[in-house]
Amino acid sequence: MADMRVELAGLKLANPVLLASGILDSTPGILARMADSGAGALVTKSISLEPRPGYAGPTVAEVAPGTWLNAMGLPNPGLAEFLDEFDLQGGLVPVIPNLVADTPEDFGKLAAGVAGAGAKLAEINLSCPHPRAGWSGLLTAQDPAAAATATAAAAAHLPVIAKLSPDVADIGAIAVACAEAGAAAVSAINTMPALDIDTELERPVLGNAFGGLSGPALLPIGLRCVLKAVRALRDAGHAMPVIGIGGISSGDDAAKYILCGAQAVQVGTSLGGNPERLGEIAAELGGWMERKGYATLDAFRGNALEWLP
Ligand code: SIN
Repeated sequence: MADMRVELAGLKLANPVLLASGILDSTPGILARMADSGAGALVTKSISLEPRPGYAGPTVAEVAPGTWLNAMGLPNPGLAEFLDEFDLQGGLVPVIPNLVADTPEDFGKLAAGVAGAGAKLAEINLSCPHPRAGWSGLLTAQDPAAAATATAAAAAHLPVIAKLSPDVADIGAIAVACAEAGAAAVSAINTMPALDIDTELERPVLGNAFGGLSGPALLPIGLRCVLKAVRALRDAGHAMPVIGIGGISSGDDAAKYILCGAQAVQVGTSLGGNPERLGEIAAELGGWMERKGYATLDAFRGNALEWLP
């Protein structure tokens, strides 16, 4: 049997297939089902210091088969209630809180809060594709200096994964800025900023108008971003891991990200309403490794990089 164990920022995981933030993660019970199914780790929905109600609906629409547009508006109960509800220390697999804030100070407070509650690693959401009152007026992940400042504020309290946007000219430069600010890892990509129009109503489909696109179409975009981030980090002399996200619906898709140099992957949209699918994707990755004769993830990680011009 292939050995899929992997280390991620000090955490030892049984396999590299993680739950992405914002999918099937609203209750501890669903997280427990995904842990039982064989997930490597679980990333929670985005948590802010104070509760956020989210946007008016519609917040989600299927714009092509399996392709979704969403603008939820980061609804969450706020840090205090989240910590009451979710156990960040126990559990079968690590639970990684995802944090969202409009200022570096608030990222620092959130990171201190989850570290105090036992989290060993947090993901910071620098890349919600439709911020309303975002710090600096941009997606934080579109500005290397803003991304670095937010990362440093959170990384002062615990190891952090900085979640990046595909909507940038040079994702490698943002990844390097996060590494130099003390990130333990970056994850790429968040959803792609997008829009759909209802031709009967002659208005945007979503209540917020703009949203983020997810589903299988994101796979080639995510692979490009991960490969570019991995290469930029290597060129700059950083060993920091990259986590691949976007369009994964099978073990084969997960293998593609690892071939591009990803340390681990996160899966979201393809889970649909089926939490157990996460463990099945991990098992499929193991099957792919056995068929190819790979005993460990290190044996094939980054193999696609040698083909770059
Ligand atoms: C949302 O809650 O609207 C999506 C958040 C995100 O994509 O970062």
